[in-house]
This record gives sequence, structure tokens and C-alpha cells, in this order.
Amino acid sequence: MTTNEQPRTQWRGRWGFLLAATGSAVGLGNIWKFPYITGEYGGGAFVLVYLACILAVGVPVMMTEIALGRRGRGSPIDAIRRLVSESGKGSAWSLLGWMAMLCGFLILSFYVVVAGWSFSYLWKMLSGGLAGSSVDDMAAIFVANNENPLNLGFWSTLVTVATMVIVGKGVQAGIEKSVDWMMPGLVIMLLALIGFGIFSGGFGDAVRFLFSFDAGSLSSEGMLTALGHAFFTLSLASGAILTYGSYLPAKASIARTTLSVAVADTVVALMAGLAIFPVIFANGMSPASGPGLIFMSLPLAFQAMPLGTLFGVLFFVMLSMAALTSSISMVEATISWLSDNKGISRRTASWSTGIVLWLVSTLAMLSFNLGADWTLAGKTFFDWLDYLTSRWMMPLGGLGMVLLAGFVLKHETFREELGLSPAWHALWLFMVRYVSPLGILVIFVDALGITRVQFGLHWPWLLAILVVMTLVGELASPRLRRTLSS
Ligand code: PFF
Repeated sequence: MTTNEQPRTQWRGRWGFLLAATGSAVGLGNIWKFPYITGEYGGGAFVLVYLACILAVGVPVMMTEIALGRRGRGSPIDAIRRLVSESGKGSAWSLLGWMAMLCGFLILSFYVVVAGWSFSYLWKMLSGGLAGSSVDDMAAIFVANNENPLNLGFWSTLVTVATMVIVGKGVQAGIEKSVDWMMPGLVIMLLALIGFGIFSGGFGDAVRFLFSFDAGSLSSEGMLTALGHAFFTLSLASGAILTYGSYLPAKASIARTTLSVAVADTVVALMAGLAIFPVIFANGMSPASGPGLIFMSLPLAFQAMPLGTLFGVLFFVMLSMAALTSSISMVEATISWLSDNKGISRRTASWSTGIVLWLVSTLAMLSFNLGADWTLAGKTFFDWLDYLTSRWMMPLGGLGMVLLAGFVLKHETFREELGLSPAWHALWLFMVRYVSPLGILVIFVDALGITRVQFGLHWPWLLAILVVMTLVGELASPRLRRTLSS
């Protein structure tokens, strides 16, 4: 039951979508970012809030996006435009689609730089450039790797080209084929690293660090970071999941698929933590070492383990692949929109997008060397891309999507697409109408600088606001719908 007139490419059934969506979700966010922000924000308590955010905000938003994509059968702009016009509502909502598409593109512009780190470490492992390095050497190597714009530019350009080649090949040949073997390979590598960690001496400390709850170590900033990261790690509000949803066959269950992706994503993040922190603790390093954490720690583990070079090479191959399966999903919205609307082939769309991407990502890359001083309000261009997307565009886009689904579009659309029992449907509706919007509003309050009053930590207040929102929302529902639709 779709609104589409022409047949659209589809995944090889639910499994194809599942692998591709998991490939999009599992990426540098899980293996590079999750461990280092967990380290910075104090461990177990942060992990608990992150898990709560995935459940309360991430899962409902993801279900909504897949349903919007499958029902609208198009890029975010086209899908949303179709659905609002089908419901007889204002076309201004398609701005949400534009924002999601732009957000995916902007994330990709800095993501290729980090993915470039992964490729460059792969090369270092292969060429023996890390052999015999001490803990201090590792930190110096990370800094030196960034200081040379030609070196860093080379690697991020390589990632840009690889992304565009895969995307240009299309949904089945390019995206599905790559994900098929990359995901299982990554899990095997993480298991091997965890196995090593168990014998390395730091495993007990790592488990305590990740899973013991110490409310005192939880800052308001940490809670907000956890919420922002829930969006990032599940690839939400960036056009990726919505566009992938548009290729999902009608029979596949959206709820089950979403849960599988969310569980796989979470398991990989926790596995990455269990692989990395034993090395950190066994070597007396600080868990709060920032973005360089995995690049400075894991090579130490590889040095110490039997067949370490082999494992190291395989690990960085898998990390680079995980980055690629995410980066291809970030431009899919743009490519789908260009090829559906501008009468150009996927290949042409990919190359033209790639050129613009290269220009923007080069500016992001320069933030680590020549452009380190080009700052605005203390942030480099790279920092701005990260800040604007994760603190503003993703939450704003997520908020728009849940309001669109909860109050504007026809209920029938979601009843049919989600196919849930009445009780589960009611729960989903409650989440998208009230729980997710409240969670997202908390991020904005932070971005506006109001968290100095520790807003995020007052659970009783949040609960009270939720009750009031629900009462007001349900009582004023028809009126709210009219206001949102006009
Ligand atoms: N989920 C990816 C990760 O955790 O690395 C990042 C990402 C992919 C963000 C796709 C946004 C997106 F559209």
C-alpha cells in the first residue's frame, strides 16, 4: 500500500534492509565516539542514560522514519511532500526533508575526516609504522597524523571517492553487497579483542567502569550528550534511515526491524567499550583521552597480542568498512532526490555530490592543521559541523518528524504501515507525541545554555512536565492538529 506510481528499487527483502540499516547505524559512532564520550562523561551512569535514550527516543523516531519512507516511497523531501499532500496538509513540512538531507551531507563532510584516520591507521599497521611504540609515542603519532594537511587530505579524499563509487553503483549492487560481509567481520574482530582484553589484566576495571552506576558522575552535559548520541548512532533525522525505508518491501515488519537494528547497534557499542577499556586500564591511560582514544589505545593491544599485526590490520579494515557503510547512507537521500527529480543517473548524481562534498570536507580536514586557528566562537569548522548537526539539526529534525507523525498525518497511514496491535500502537503514539518531544526539547534547552540550572537532572520535574504535556496534548489534540497543519 504505497502512494507511489512507479516501481521503486527494493532491498532483497527484510534481511537486505536489516543489514543495510545496521550498516548505517553501526559505524564510527559506536567504535570511535561511544567509548570516548563514555570515558569523558564518567562511565556506567552515562551508559545507562544512553540506553534509556535509545529506547525512549531512538526507537520511536526510527520506526516513524522508516514508516514515512516506506509509505512516501522517496527521498525525505519527496516522501514527506507526498504524505502531507495525501493528508491535505501544508507543504511547508517538506522543509523537514530538506533539513534531513542537508544534515546527512554535513555529517558526512566531517565523518570522512574521521574515517580517514581509520584508513591511515590501517596503513600504519600494514607498513609497521606503529611497531614498538610506547603509550606516549602513540599520542605523538596521533597528533603528527593530523598535523600534515596533505596526509590527512589524502585519506579523507580516499574515503570520499570510495563512498561515491559504492553509492554510484546503486542500492543492490553497491550498498547491499558491501554490507553483507562487513558487519559479520566486524563482530568477529571485536570478539577477538574482547577475548584478548579478558587476559590483559584490565578487564575487571573495564566492566566496572562501563556497568557500575554512580549517579554522582553524571553531569547534565553528559545526559544531553547521551541523547544527542542516540540520534547520531541510530542515523536518525539525517535522511539515511528514511530513504533506506523507502526501499523496504511492504511485507516487512517495521517494529521488529527497528528493534533488531537498535539492539545490534547497542551491542556493538558495548562490545567496543569492552574491547577498548581493558587496554586503557591495563596501560594506565586515561579513559578521558578524547577523540584519539581508540587510535592511541588499540594499537598498544595489538602490539602485545600474538599475531597482533594481523589482528590490527583486520581491525582497521573492519573499522574503515563500518565507516563506509555509514557514510554511504548519509548521501543516499541526496542521491535519491537528485536522480528522482533531476533526470540524472545515480552515477552522475554521485559524482556531482562528491565534488561538493570534497570541498566542504577539505575545509573540515584543515581544522586539524592549517585552519586550526580559523575559529568562530572558539569552534573550528570541524567542530561547527559536529555541533550544528548533533545539537541542532538532528534533534530539530527528529522533533519535526515525531510531531508530523503524532499530530499531522492521518493515523491510518501509521496504523497500516506499522501494523501494530492496538496496545503497542497506543504506546508508539504516546512516545512520539510526548516522550520523544520532551526528550528532544531537553537538548535544546541545553543548546540555549539553560542547563546551568541542571535542568536535565531533575527527574521528578521531567515526569511532571510529561504528565502535563500529555494531558494538554490529548485535551487539545484536534486544535493542536489544526495549528500544526496550517
Ligand atoms: N550511525 C552512524 C555511526 O554511528 O557512526 C553515523 C550516522 C550515519 C549518522 C548516517 C547519520 C547518518 F545519516
